[in-house]
Amino acid sequence: MPTVYDCSVIELQRIHSLSGNITPVYGGENIPFEIARVYYLYDIPGGETRGGHAHKELQQLIVAASGSFDVLLDDGINRKVVNLNRPYFGLYLPRRIWRELLNFSSGGICLVLASEVYTESDYYRDYDAFVRDARALREEA
Ligand code: TYD
Repeated sequence: MPTVYDCSVIELQRIHSLSGNITPVYGGENIPFEIARVYYLYDIPGGETRGGHAHKELQQLIVAASGSFDVLLDDGINRKVVNLNRPYFGLYLPRRIWRELLNFSSGGICLVLASEVYTESDYYRDYDAFVRDARALREEA
């Protein structure tokens, strides 16, 4: 069972030029999963909160492609907050981590690389159900 301590900030490659920078990401190489889907959150009102769920199998890399926001991580026992504010840092989330994205700067863009296509049945949207299963799985392990 993953814990919040398995959620790591990965420094991504930066190809620098005076006319702007590029950050390439290769699934299975720069991040520990193959990329099945890319999506991004934008037009988020300043100070807004997103997320508020966990996934049974999905792994993700979360990047502040523009602006900044905080990610609250919770494995059912421990909590941790990570601030993302540079497009060359990605926060890796293994499966079964509850996350909330908070304090978006206005104009902030959250880019997400995901290991699976969208499947609603992979979500925990109820925090208490997530905590109950996380603790039961931890006891089994
Ligand atoms: P959700 O993952 O709950 O968004 P957030 O974590 O940013 O608050 O998704 C919000 C809605 O968008 C929900 O109805 C499902 C839909 N959705 C898709 O249809 N495809 C996707 O790839 C994603 C991420 C969400």
